[in-house]
Amino acid sequence: MAESRYVPALRFHWLTPACDAVIRSTTRERRFKSALIEQARFAPGQEVLDLACGTGTLALWIKQRHPSANVRGLDGDSNILGIAQRKARAARVDVPFDHGLSTCLPYPDANFDRVVSSLFLHHLSWADKQRTAAELLRVLRPGGELHVADWGRATGTVMRTAFFAVQLLDGFANTGQRRG
Ligand SMILES: C[S@@+](CC[C@H](N)C(=O)[O-])C[C@H]1O[C@@H](n2cnc3c(N)ncnc32)[C@H](O)[C@@H]1O
Repeated sequence: MAESRYVPALRFHWLTPACDAVIRSTTRERRFKSALIEQARFAPGQEVLDLACGTGTLALWIKQRHPSANVRGLDGDSNILGIAQRKARAARVDVPFDHGLSTCLPYPDANFDRVVSSLFLHHLSWADKQRTAAELLRVLRPGGELHVADWGRATGTVMRTAFFAVQLLDGFANTGQRRG
């Protein structure tokens, strides 16, 4: 079986500290992450995972809006998790962050009611998308839900140009429409 590959947030680790500023300035972050939170309809006591949480923005917003949900984040990059932990401490929000890969999740079967993920799936090869889907099916409870926000098909010159920059960073095979 091919080994899982891992692409850091902005491809190069030295760019990781700029991640929040880049996402904030190049996407409508507050709008689409708030829409994802609305869509997921969190309930008190639910177990929630933010998959590939990066600097933890989405996980922290979920916990702030739904304090009685049990929210945790996971990411493959221990450096970016350091930023997430510092943000959680500064905001006095209790969200644990775990180090691990989406293709081999460090959780028992049927552990989560909700998994959310933003700006992540385009980082994965086709094979890793399939492995990740299998892992999500394993860790979600019966009736559990996955809610995803990611780049869609780019239309128009401006969006195609913007998406070209994403492809340069995250790889043409991972971000293509076809199986790679
Ligand atoms: C563009 S960032 C998005 C971070 C965050 N979800 C957000 O919306 O701000 C993509 C994240 O995916 C993580 N990542 C890439 N491949 C991964 C994998 N196989 N498993 C877990 N995390 C991964 C990177 O470390 C990075 O933090």
